Amino acid sequence: MDVRKLVIFITNIKEIDNAHLDIAVSLKNLYNLVSSGSDLDEQITVVRNCILKHFSIEDKSMALINYPYIEEHRQGHKLVLNTIDNITNYNEPIITILKESDVIAIYEVVLIHTEYHDNKFLEFTKIIY
Ligand SMILES: [Fe+2]
Ligand SMILES: [Fe+2]
Repeated sequence: MDVRKLVIFITNIKEIDNAHLDIAVSLKNLYNLVSSGSDLDEQITVVRNCILKHFSIEDKSMALINYPYIEEHRQGHKLVLNTIDNITNYNEPIITILKESDVIAIYEVVLIHTEYHDNKFLEFTKIIY
């Protein structure tokens, strides 16, 4: 799985860029586990925690500068999380079975969010700083 597009997205806010990198690495690891047929639950939790931590960093950054589209961006984060939880059956007490295409779908939803919402936030920071 090629995660370059997420890795090369740079906001120059170090915490946010590092968190995007962590998400990319965690998804790549999940993809490799799917390919090897290993138990996925632990790595799904790693992916989810990376994403939750990242959303909270972005939320703080947006609140700090009174970003006017913060609610829209928060809705975007909710959508990403719901999509991941649906694909991984996160709230169901069943063993998680994923296909490679499921991990790619998770990556795509993160990437689409980043390219639209994170980019919009980035453009706004360029105006005010
Ligand atoms: Fe982000
Ligand atoms: Fe975001």
